[in-house]
Amino acid sequence: MLVEVVDNYESLSARAAEVVIQQIRKKPDSTIGFATGGTPKGLYDRLIQAHQERGLDFSKLTTFNLDEYVGLPPEHEQSYAHYMWSNLFDHVNVTESRVHIPHGMADDIDEHCQWYERRIQEAGGIDLQILGIGANGHIAFNEPGSSLGSRTRIKTLTSKTVEDNARYFEDPDMVPEYAITMGVGTIMEAEEVLLLASGERKSRAIKKTLEGPLTAMVPASMVQMHRFAHVVLDEEAASRLDYRHHHGIAEPKDDA
Ligand code: GLP
Repeated sequence: MLVEVVDNYESLSARAAEVVIQQIRKKPDSTIGFATGGTPKGLYDRLIQAHQERGLDFSKLTTFNLDEYVGLPPEHEQSYAHYMWSNLFDHVNVTESRVHIPHGMADDIDEHCQWYERRIQEAGGIDLQILGIGANGHIAFNEPGSSLGSRTRIKTLTSKTVEDNARYFEDPDMVPEYAITMGVGTIMEAEEVLLLASGERKSRAIKKTLEGPLTAMVPASMVQMHRFAHVVLDEEAASRLDYRHHHGIAEPKDDA
């Protein structure tokens, strides 16, 4: 694992943007997996800037989003579709027909999930998957207890996640209880995963993810099995780590 610890959220966003921009420049027809949540917003602002000021071209990209709430139409302000368009896609030159976000109002959710998996395969797999992490160690909406080999499917959200996400809803009682999410197995097939975490609130989950055992109780710990996991943390998110991670190795901070 390549773990980088930077000073703060600004530096984290800048470092993540470098990685994504490099991927797009190296392979303009890349398939990129996008994430939602507060964490990647700074990254997306920088991608917009790179498009508007330096002509970064998104037109040949294929994109897949990690997840979506069940029961919210794409135009709903709290849907992840709305998040992606308003925070990134509306401001760059993506080709709409190559943008994929699970549909929260699909009639047949199981069929839709299988279609989503097929589309990822047909696109040749994901080159770079951007990931955040839940305070309970979830990735996408793979909550603790999710199979580490899981595929795209419907998941029930934990009360902790519903509570964490309530801040985004005007009426906290309206937070959906189910989501469609890529599986842990689906995510791990990406060529590279870029996991971002910022703030003290994530420090316990990061400690367990990077230095704890591989366990379905912390689905993000599966990054330990990935052949190219790149983790960018700010100092607060890294504050509970017992090891100093550098150059793909880890050394105890307390060398006693
Ligand atoms: C949601 C998303 C995750 C995201 C997490 C963390 O639960 N499904 O993909 O990583 O929130 O969000 P934030 O970055 O706002 O802490």
